[in-house]
Amino acid sequence: MNQELIQAARNVRDNAHTPYSNFQVGAAVRTSSGTIFVGCNVENAAYPEGTCAEAGAIAAMCAAGEYEISEVAVIAGGSRPVPPCGGCRQKLAEFSTGDVSVTMVAMDGSMQATTVADLLPGAFDIDHLKAGATVPAP
Ligand code: THU
Repeated sequence: MNQELIQAARNVRDNAHTPYSNFQVGAAVRTSSGTIFVGCNVENAAYPEGTCAEAGAIAAMCAAGEYEISEVAVIAGGSRPVPPCGGCRQKLAEFSTGDVSVTMVAMDGSMQATTVADLLPGAFDIDHLKAGATVPAP
């Protein structure tokens, strides 16, 4: 558990744009350099165009030229720690080894810790592309 990472997720959650769900989420990823990147969910009147908090944090990380996640924290409302959605599990796996810790936190402070591999066992990744692409994958 990393208080600094959790606090960063908690702070950015306040900036979530959620007029449709009223469900605010904050995410923070630490990278191998030790830097923390944050994201919040950003909804849209065209509902499918909304983006998750984890996607925002990952986009900020890549925009800064970093691609190796070492730790993740996600925080949402209620008393049950909220797990990343399926799409976000795949997004996190793209930049993480399986043992990367994911701490899920609820606003009342309850927490649950897991790993990227436990969230998405058997993840589809670049090795599947390399093994199966008709034209060699990069
Ligand atoms: N949401 C996230 O930001 N991350 C997740 O992993 C789960 C869902 C957001 C998307 C949407 O804005 C709101 O929560 C309700 O689904």
